[in-house]
Amino acid sequence: MMKKVILGSVLLAATSASAMPFEKPEDAIRYRQSAFTMIATNFGDMSAMVKGRKDWDQAQFSKRALFISQLTMMPEEAFQMKGTDKGDTKARPEIWSDWDGFTAKLNKFQGDMANLAKVSAEGDQRATMKAFGVAAKNCKSCHSDYKYR
Ligand code: HEC
Repeated sequence: MMKKVILGSVLLAATSASAMPFEKPEDAIRYRQSAFTMIATNFGDMSAMVKGRKDWDQAQFSKRALFISQLTMMPEEAFQMKGTDKGDTKARPEIWSDWDGFTAKLNKFQGDMANLAKVSAEGDQRATMKAFGVAAKNCKSCHSDYKYR
């Protein structure tokens, strides 16, 4: 309950221009690309464990899931920054013409990653792998509609 209240106020704050931490559109573009780069690095390590290319380490997996669940909160305000539909970006214009559809995918991603962080912290490998499979679907689901290759 408390968490929801805090989350709500953070999202509200992100919508007002004065709350933006960016000075220029290119700063916001670099920021969201950095967040996705860090998401992908942590995600790749978890994926290697799930696929057995790396020894399973529940504590390490849980740490990476926690990192990602925090990182998923960061890109949204960078997409809200005006002028970030142009420049050195792979973001498709559909992000802004279909903002509700985009934020629905972002919210699902945040929810699935928060769930993965919670489940992996509880320590059950099987349940963790199942939650990972659910969370992993978000990447392609969003990229195919909202990101250029
Ligand atoms: C809600 C939509 C959404 C979801 C979910 C999402 N991404 Fe992305 N991702 C984007 C968009 C949009 C960009 C392009 C950002 C830009 O270039 O401004 C992007 C860019 C990237 C990049 C390139 C970063 C760079 O340096 O240019 C990587 C890597 C990436 N995403 C990985 C992932 C992975 C891995 C997942 C899942 C664990 C994921 N993304 C989930 C929308 C999403």
